[in-house]
Amino acid sequence: MGAYADIYQGWKDNPEQFWMEAAEAIDWVQKPSKAFFPDQDVYGRWFADGTCNTCYNAVDRHVAGGRADQAALIYDSPITGNQRSYTYAEVKQEVEALAAVLVDRGVEKGDRVIIYMPMVPEAAFAMLACARIGAIHSVVFGGFAAAELATRIDDCAAKCVISASCGIEPGRVIAYKPLLDEAIEISANKPESTVILQREQQGCERIDGRDFDYADEVGRHRAAGTEVPCVDLLATDPLYILYTSGTTGQPKGVVRDNGGHMVALQWTMKNIYGVDPGEVFWAASDVGWVVGHSYIVYAPLLAGNTTILFEGKPVGTPDAGTFWRVIADHKVAVLFTAPTAFRAIKKEDPEGALINNYDVSNFRMLYLAGERADPDTIHWAERVLKTPVIDHWWQTETGWTIAGNPVGIQLMEIKYGSPTVAMPGYDIQVLSDEGEELPRGELGNVVVKLPLPPSCFPTLWNAEARMREAYLEEFPGYYKTADAGIMDEDGYLFIMARTDDIINVAGHRLSTGGMEEVIAEHKDVAECAVIGITDPLKGQLPAGFLILNAGVNRPISEIQAEVIKLVREKIGPVAAFKIAVPVARLPKTRSGKILRATMQKVVDGEDFKMPATIDDPAIIDEIKASWDEHTG
Ligand code: COA
Ligand code: AMP
Repeated sequence: MGAYADIYQGWKDNPEQFWMEAAEAIDWVQKPSKAFFPDQDVYGRWFADGTCNTCYNAVDRHVAGGRADQAALIYDSPITGNQRSYTYAEVKQEVEALAAVLVDRGVEKGDRVIIYMPMVPEAAFAMLACARIGAIHSVVFGGFAAAELATRIDDCAAKCVISASCGIEPGRVIAYKPLLDEAIEISANKPESTVILQREQQGCERIDGRDFDYADEVGRHRAAGTEVPCVDLLATDPLYILYTSGTTGQPKGVVRDNGGHMVALQWTMKNIYGVDPGEVFWAASDVGWVVGHSYIVYAPLLAGNTTILFEGKPVGTPDAGTFWRVIADHKVAVLFTAPTAFRAIKKEDPEGALINNYDVSNFRMLYLAGERADPDTIHWAERVLKTPVIDHWWQTETGWTIAGNPVGIQLMEIKYGSPTVAMPGYDIQVLSDEGEELPRGELGNVVVKLPLPPSCFPTLWNAEARMREAYLEEFPGYYKTADAGIMDEDGYLFIMARTDDIINVAGHRLSTGGMEEVIAEHKDVAECAVIGITDPLKGQLPAGFLILNAGVNRPISEIQAEVIKLVREKIGPVAAFKIAVPVARLPKTRSGKILRATMQKVVDGEDFKMPATIDDPAIIDEIKASWDEHTG
C-alpha cells in the first residue's frame, strides 16, 4: 500500500482520531473534546464544543510565534503598476485598525458585513477584520451587477458594507460606488453604513453620515494603536457566507464555520499542496470566489506562508509572460489557478517562449481547479513549466479538495482528465439515478457519503430546507455534488459534467436558470432557454434561444442587443452573455421539458441521439438552421 492509501484507510477506520490529530495544528481557546457531534444541525457538526478565532490563527499567532517580519501578503498589481509587501506584523496592524472601524460602526459578533471590493489588500484585511470580531463576512465578486449585490445584501441583512471607489479591468475603470448606491437603493434591508476605500484611479462621492472613508478611519486607529482583541467564537459559529449560483436566480448562501474550516484548510497546505510554512503560495483567482477565500486568504495565512494577491489578468497586463514574472519576482513555489487562465496564455504565446525571460527555478508545482482541466492544457503547462501539473476537484460548498493528488503525502500517478483520488474525509461514490451504486467505469451521479468533512458547509444561510432539498434529499445519506462522473478500477475519479443547470464560464460558476429568469423579463420575449456551449478559451459560454411574442416586428438585432444588455445589467459582465438566437420553437419532451442537453449537442456539432420523448423532431433542424444563420 502506498502512503496515500494508508492515510485514506486510516481516516476511514477512525475519522475521529484523524480529525482530532489534524486539529492539533490549530491554536484553540478551548480545545474541542471530540471531533464530530452527529446530532447537531443538518448532518452533524465538527469540533462543536471548541472555541477559537480564525484571525488569531491566521495572523496573531504568527506575529507572536516568530513570523512578525515575514511577508504575509504581497500585493502585485500589473494593472495599476503597484506592488507592496505586508509582513505579518503589518497585516495585524491593518486588520486591527479596520476591526476598530467596524466596532465604531456598531458591528458586533454575528453581524453580517458585505465586502464588495476589487483585488486590493484591503479586501483581505476586511475579511480578517470581520473574523477578528466574529462578524460574518460575505464577499461579492466585482463582476456582479447592482441587482446581484442587492440580492446578497438583502439575503444576509448586512449591517455594513466595505467597498472601494472603483475596480480596474483592462482598458476600463469600473466605478463601484454607483453600483453600490443602486444596490442599497433597491435593497429592502439597508445597511447602516459603508466604509469606502478611495482609489487614486477614480474617486467617488460619499454620502454624509452613511459612507465613511477607509483611509481616514483606519489611519486614525492605526495612529492611535487601538487594540481590538480576537473574539472567542464557537468552532461552529459562521466565519463567512459565500453566495454561489443555484438552480434559480436566487443564489445559495454557503455558510462556512470557523473551527472545521481552519482544521481542514491547514491540513491541506502540506498534504495536498506540499508547501511548508514560510514558502510563497499564489492562488491566481479573485477573493470573490471560494478559491480566493480558501487559498488567497485563509489557508496560506493559517499555515504561515506568504500569499500573493494579484490584480491583473493572465494576458494583457501587460502580456502573456505576467504569470512567469510574478513567479520569478516573488519566488513562488506553488501556483493555483483555473485552466482557462492557462488556455489564455497558450493562445497568446503558443510556444510558451516568454517564460525564458524569467528565472522560475523556485517553482515546484501548478494546481488547476474550478473547471475540467483538459489534457491539452495540462500537457502544455507541463512542457512550459517543466513541473508536474495537478488537477483537483472541489466546490464552493466544500471549501477544499474533494478529489485531488495529495502531493505532500505521495505524488500519485497522473491520469490525464482525472483530478485523481478521494481525499481523506470524503467517501465518494457514483450512483445511478435510482440511487444504486454503479460498477467502476460507469458514468453516474457523484455523491459523498455523509457526514461531509470539516470545512464543508453545515447549511445554507437562512435556508435549511433548501439545503436539504438541493443537496440531501435525492440520494438519502449522501451529499449530491450535482457533478456527473466516473470512478475507474484504481479509484480515480473523472468529472464529466454538471447534472443541473450550472455552467462554468472561465472558471466562474453561473446558473443558466438565473439568466433565463432575466431574459424572460424582456417585453418581447415569450419563452427562452439558455444553454452552455463549448468554448475553446472559457470552457463554456452561455447561449440564449428566444421565442418572441407574436406580432413583434422590430429588427431582431435590436432585441438581441437589449437582451444582452439586460443580462449584463442584471447579473453582470461576468455572465459573459453575448449570444442570443431567435427561434420559432424550442425542442421539448411531450411533458413540456426543454431538451437543453440535446440543444447543446446540436449546436456544438456533437453526435446525439434523437430523444424518444421529443414532441417534434423537426424542431432540432430549425434550431440548427437558426443557430447557423445568426452566429455565422
Ligand atoms: N469586475 C468587473 N468586471 C469584471 C470583473 C471584475 N472583477 N472580472 C471580470 N469582469 C468582466 C470582464 O472585464 C469581462 O467584461 P467584457 O464582457 O466587457 O469583456 C467579463 O466580465 C467577462 O470576464 P471573463 O469571463 O473573466 O473574461 P475576460 O475576457 O475578461 O478574461 C480570462 C478571460 C480567461 C483571462 C479570465 O477569465 C481569467 O483570468 N480567468 C482566470 C480564472 C479565474 O480567476 N477563475 C476563478 C476561479 S479559480
Ligand atoms: P465552484 O463552486 O464555483 O468552485 O464550482 C464547482 C464546480 O466546478 C464543480 O461542481 C464542477 O462542476 C466544476 N469543477 C471544479 N473543479 C473541477 C475540476 N478539477 N474538474 C472538473 N470540474 C471541476
